[in-house]
Amino acid sequence: MATNIRIASWVLLLCATFSMAMATTSSPANTCSAPIGEEEEDNSVPVRKEIYGNGKIYDITHRYTTNMPSWETKEGLGQFLWLPASMKNGSLANFSEMKLPAHTGTHVDAPGHVYDHYFDAGFDVDTLDLDVLNVSVGPALLVDVPRDKNITAEVMKSLKIPKGVRRVLFRTLNTDRGLMWKKEFDTSYVGFMKDGAKWLVENTDIKLVGVDYLSAAAYDDLIPSHLVFLEGREVILVEGLKLDDIVPGIYVVHCLPLRLLGAEGSPIRCILIK
Ligand SMILES: *[C@@H]1O[C@H](CO)[C@@H](O)[C@H](O)[C@H]1NC(C)=O
Ligand SMILES: *[C@@H]1O[C@H](CO)[C@@H](O)[C@H](O)[C@H]1NC(C)=O
Ligand SMILES: *[C@@H]1O[C@H](CO)[C@@H](O)[C@H](O)[C@H]1NC(C)=O
Ligand SMILES: *[C@@H]1O[C@H](CO)[C@@H](O)[C@H](O)[C@H]1NC(C)=O
Repeated sequence: MATNIRIASWVLLLCATFSMAMATTSSPANTCSAPIGEEEEDNSVPVRKEIYGNGKIYDITHRYTTNMPSWETKEGLGQFLWLPASMKNGSLANFSEMKLPAHTGTHVDAPGHVYDHYFDAGFDVDTLDLDVLNVSVGPALLVDVPRDKNITAEVMKSLKIPKGVRRVLFRTLNTDRGLMWKKEFDTSYVGFMKDGAKWLVENTDIKLVGVDYLSAAAYDDLIPSHLVFLEGREVILVEGLKLDDIVPGIYVVHCLPLRLLGAEGSPIRCILIK
């Protein structure tokens, strides 16, 4: 506790210094926007934000909640956190444990997800290429996909994504329908059809495919599309992104999975920077 308070005041001090230097540019989205003197009030309630860094950093990860959608169930994720040691019951600290499917919420697929021989060979999330997931290897493009179709070869062609673009976040009807905010799993989500996946692999330089529901592949082409994407072990699928209210365009993306040995999927934290 004492440590927390010390850290909090230190952060505030830093913020105060920062605000003085940047007095003309501070905005409500600023992490440091708390007016000096109101720190007690502000510190008493946890702040949950979607945008940081003066409006420049977007958290495009969905919050893990019991009501978030989970694969092929109407019930949502359900309980995933337990408190085996709690201060109320006499422990010195609160200590939670979690249990959740590796493909929950915003997550990444490794090649072992749909190729058993890759799984056996150890192509797990620990082997995903950080050069691709990495922040600074180049821009990420957020594009809007036509709302009336799944992502077919024809749709991919129509998007005219320039050669050289290595990361693309595809925003679809799923975002408009708020599917990631609904508890019930919905098979009618938009995703890649096999020919769309094939077109992407054969005609673009895209190595990171980001989508806005739990699977990059449309439900009707679930396995065929995954097979096309993951066969070459070059494409990384980031699924379940939160792309609401972000202007299409070029950003820097940071996406890092947990380093889980043996796992063919992992929760991933993704942010976009303007
Ligand atoms: C510790 O756990 C208790 C439940 O035993 C909870 O009410 C409390 O908020 C927790 N404290 C912190 C600091 O998380
Ligand atoms: C504390 O222990 C009691 C009795 O074992 C149990 O019923 C209760 O759920 C525990 N509370 C927490 C917060 O762990
Ligand atoms: C990955 O990011 C780091 C840190 O920004 C950068 O130094 C490095 O060059 C990047 N890796 C590649 C392969 O570009
Ligand atoms: C996309 O495909 C799914 C089946 O995978 C279907 O239910 C849905 O209607 C399609 N969406 C559009 C916009 O065509």
